Amino acid sequence: MYKTQLLKAPQFKQQALNLRSLSQSAPCKKFGEIPLAPPDKILGISEAYVNDSNPNKINLGVGAYRDNSGKPIIFPSVKEAEKILLQKETEKEYTGINGSKNFQNIVKNFIFNNSGKDANGKQLIDDNRIVTAQTISGTGSLRVIADFLNRFYSSKKILVPKPTWANHVAVFKDAGLEPEFYAYYETSKNDLDFDNLKKSLESQPNESVVLLHACCHNPTGMDLTNEQWDEVLQIIQDKKFFPLVDMAYQGFASGKPFQDIELIRKLTKLANENKIPSFALCQSFAKNMGLYGERTGSISIITPNADASKAIESQLKKLIRPIYSSPPIHGSKIVEVIFDEQSGLLPQWLEELDKVVGRLNDVRQKLYEKLDKSNYNWDHLLKQRGMFVYTGLTPEQVQKLRNEYSVYATEDGRFSISGINENNVDYLANAINEVIKN
Ligand code: LMR
Repeated sequence: MYKTQLLKAPQFKQQALNLRSLSQSAPCKKFGEIPLAPPDKILGISEAYVNDSNPNKINLGVGAYRDNSGKPIIFPSVKEAEKILLQKETEKEYTGINGSKNFQNIVKNFIFNNSGKDANGKQLIDDNRIVTAQTISGTGSLRVIADFLNRFYSSKKILVPKPTWANHVAVFKDAGLEPEFYAYYETSKNDLDFDNLKKSLESQPNESVVLLHACCHNPTGMDLTNEQWDEVLQIIQDKKFFPLVDMAYQGFASGKPFQDIELIRKLTKLANENKIPSFALCQSFAKNMGLYGERTGSISIITPNADASKAIESQLKKLIRPIYSSPPIHGSKIVEVIFDEQSGLLPQWLEELDKVVGRLNDVRQKLYEKLDKSNYNWDHLLKQRGMFVYTGLTPEQVQKLRNEYSVYATEDGRFSISGINENNVDYLANAINEVIKN
């Protein structure tokens, strides 16, 4: 039943549609008339930061890790894996359209089987109900699943939390989906808006796609509790929503990737019981393995049965091939070496990740301690988790921080806290304390 729903549009119809939209496209503007596009809301911050000559400048824009001296790092386990690759790699052949089988199995085992701890996930793997494809990191996986849903799913509507990662809406719109916000966060209270979250989901049409952040919600850092997830999952069942989970920061909540997947475990259980027969997960190793520019991630679709998996895998390949043919191999091979028992690198990586998260928690605490609390409550900073604090500063205050102190953050008041270290935390706290005075 569900299979026909998911694979609704017959292939023939789809091709006819594409031809029609091609012939209807607007005539090409002259190149001299193409308007300037605005800078990217997140990556544009880094561009502006580079051009600032203030020696005290601080970049709190992009969600990418920096160490205590303000420098990007390569995880030592990743370096070790690269050394092994340098010695052992004998070819640079294309990988499969959907990546190597080994990479796919690693992702399945790591996330769904939870390396032996999730019996439900294991059952789904054994029943061939998970289709995994390597993608061009998290953004690539979001785009692939959005294209897939646009082509095959019964509803174009995708519900995204307000606020959400600045790129989500653009990815979904460009793929032809129709994003709409559901309530998530109450800025005036600097807190989750759980009652309205439920109400706004309940008011949406059945079968909508709903985007859920698995952990370390971007940008707010505020996650649902286990009990709150249960309530939301009940609404998802009642409304027959299709859950699409984005997991960019696995490990950044607790320091332990195996602990940060409570939502996935709940979903694998519901999938096994056929209460939520299908869902999809976008993940990447960009943050938790520091493989940012290697563009290493995946899309996994949990399907109703093995036959559906076969069809869905074939359609995913058909969809990916005309876009980028096949994914890059260096990052995925690093992942493969780290997860290879013979390399012994897995425990090392887990330890390194734990330390990275430990430093983020330290700077979060230090910043909190130095902020002026006489007229302002900063307690929300300590409730948030992951790479960001969502300060609650207004766009004007953020602009002031930038103009007067060369402190760069996104307009919504999100600070990527890895840009904070012991050399600049006093300067930053002082700048914020001055800005909130007026
Ligand atoms: C972020 O939110 O800063 C990161 O996910 C980087 C990006 O691509 O936007």
